Amino acid sequence: MSRSGGVVWLKTVVAVVSTAALLTYAVCRPPVRHQVGGKDRWKPNVNYTDWSLQETFYVGDWLYFVYDKHMFNVLEVNETSFINCNDQGFIFNITRGAGRDVFELTQPKPYYFLASGGYCYNGMKVAINVVEFVPAPQPSPATSGGYTITGINQLISSITVAVWAVITLLKN
Ligand SMILES: *[C@@H]1O[C@H](CO)[C@@H](O)[C@H](O)[C@H]1NC(C)=O
Ligand SMILES: *[C@@H]1O[C@H](CO)[C@@H](O)[C@H](O)[C@H]1NC(C)=O
Ligand SMILES: *[C@@H]1O[C@H](CO)[C@@H](O)[C@H](O)[C@H]1NC(C)=O
Repeated sequence: MSRSGGVVWLKTVVAVVSTAALLTYAVCRPPVRHQVGGKDRWKPNVNYTDWSLQETFYVGDWLYFVYDKHMFNVLEVNETSFINCNDQGFIFNITRGAGRDVFELTQPKPYYFLASGGYCYNGMKVAINVVEFVPAPQPSPATSGGYTITGINQLISSITVAVWAVITLLKN
């Protein structure tokens, strides 16, 4: 491959990647990692209802449990077990042993977590409501096939910018 051929090839790759990134940003949202409890982390006597009400959890986001690995753990349970602090027959054991566990929120539904060993009774339980991300939500509910008009406008302007970027890159 000649040197100029290589440069054109490189520019094309850069253009394609930046176009893809722009389009992704127009309709998606980068996943957020929520540290459970915020600065309080995962420990007894924290009001996790207070905390979870202040956050919005979208499908694809992650929970991050940070805690004393010698004391606590994290289990996913169903709603009944959450209410009753029942740590038997849990759904999923998130504990990996380092006191730093992540959990991906893959479904738009409520999730329930608790610490076993009686700590749940001291407040180490958290319920999370996960919702689907709707691109560019707007106050005025002018919709067209599920997407807001403004969302489509933003998408079109993103495509325009992307096309402009490609043309500029290829011209130079
Ligand atoms: C925790 O916070 C929620 C929401 O602010 C409140 O309704 C609830 O009473 C609090 N629970 C405790 C045990 O303080
Ligand atoms: C919740 O989990 C507990 C423990 O495994 C189980 O006994 C109970 O039947 C489950 N409840 C529902 C509604 O699935
Ligand atoms: C969860 O998994 C960890 C790591 O494999 C293990 O040490 C722990 O005993 C498990 N907890 C329960 C309640 O099964």
